[in-house]
Amino acid sequence: MLIENLPNVIYVADPNYLNELSNELGDVSHVFNDLVFSSTLKTDICFALDAWINPQILHFESISQAVRALRAAGKFWYLHPIENIRRSRLIESELRKLPDLNHAFPLTEEIPQIGCFSLLDKNTLVYCNTRWKKAPLGNYHFIEDKINPPNRAYLKLWEALSLWGTYPTKGELAVDLGASPGGWTYVCQMLGADVIAVDKAPLAEHIAKLPRVQFQQQSAFALDPNSFEKDIDWLLCDVACYPERTFDLVTQWIQSGKAKRMIFTLKLQGETNLKIIEKFQAIPKSRVIHMMSNKHEATFFYPAPSYLFL
Ligand SMILES: C[S@@+](CC[C@H](N)C(=O)[O-])C[C@H]1O[C@@H](n2cnc3c(N)ncnc32)[C@H](O)[C@@H]1O
Repeated sequence: MLIENLPNVIYVADPNYLNELSNELGDVSHVFNDLVFSSTLKTDICFALDAWINPQILHFESISQAVRALRAAGKFWYLHPIENIRRSRLIESELRKLPDLNHAFPLTEEIPQIGCFSLLDKNTLVYCNTRWKKAPLGNYHFIEDKINPPNRAYLKLWEALSLWGTYPTKGELAVDLGASPGGWTYVCQMLGADVIAVDKAPLAEHIAKLPRVQFQQQSAFALDPNSFEKDIDWLLCDVACYPERTFDLVTQWIQSGKAKRMIFTLKLQGETNLKIIEKFQAIPKSRVIHMMSNKHEATFFYPAPSYLFL
C-alpha cells in the first residue's frame, strides 16, 4: 500500500466517535479502521483516545524484517490488530513480552513506554513509539471493584485520576456534585479524603454510612461556592444535565477560586455539538477529553497539567 505523505499524527478514535474526531481535525488523509491519519497536531483534541506522534511506515517483505525494525525502535510493542491479523500476531510473537496491562487502582507503578503497531496490509507496517497516553490506545484496563461501588461510574473517575496522575488523599476535601448513588464519593473516600456529596437523590445506604462522607440533599446549582470556609481540593461533578448548564456551573466555580482542581463530566445530548466542546476548550488552563470509559460524554479537567495535552 502506498501512503504518499507520512502523517504527522495518527489519532486513535473511539469507533462511535469517528465522525466527531474527523470533524474536529478537519484535516484527515486516511482512515484505517479506528486509526485516523492527519498532518495536524491538535494539542487539545477531544475525541481521540490516543495519538501516535511522528509514526513510521515500513514496507516489508518478511516477518523478520518487521520484527527487526520494531526491536530497533523501542523495547515494548503493543499490537493493534486491524488487518492481516495472523501475520500481525506472528510479528507480535517475536517481540518482548509486555508487562501486565491490568492495573489495580490507584496505579502504583509508572506504565513503561510502550509503542504501538498495526499492519495496514500484508506488507505495510505502521508503528510509533511516541504516544500521548501511557496506556496503549488510551485504554486503561483496571481490575474492577465489583463489591464496593454502587455502580460502574467509578471507572470514569479512576480513569480521569489516572490520567491526571494525582489523587485525592488523606486530609483533603472533595466535593462531589451529582454524587448519587455514590461511585465517585466511594473512590475519594477510599483514597482517604473527606467527602461532601451533593445530590437531589439519596446516596446508596452503604456509601452514606462510610466515615468521612457527609451528604447534602440539594441541587448542585443551588450551592454557593463562597459558603465553603475551606478551599476544596477536588471539585467533582457528574450531574446529569445539559452541557450549557455545566458550563455555567464551571464558570461560577472558577470565578470563585474555591476549587483547586476540577473534574466535570460533560453530558453530550443527541448529536454531538462541537461548539459547546469548543466553549469549554476556550477556558484557559482547561482540557476536555473523551475518555475510554465515557459514554456520550467528555471529561473536563481544570487546571490541566501540561501532559494532558498532546
Ligand atoms: C450519572 S449520575 C451520577 C453518578 C455518580 N457520579 C456515581 O458515581 O455514582 C447523575 C446524578 O446527577 C444527579 N442530578 C441531576 N440533577 C441534579 C442537580 N440539579 N443537583 C444535584 N444532582 C443532580 C442525579 O440525581 C444523579 O444521581
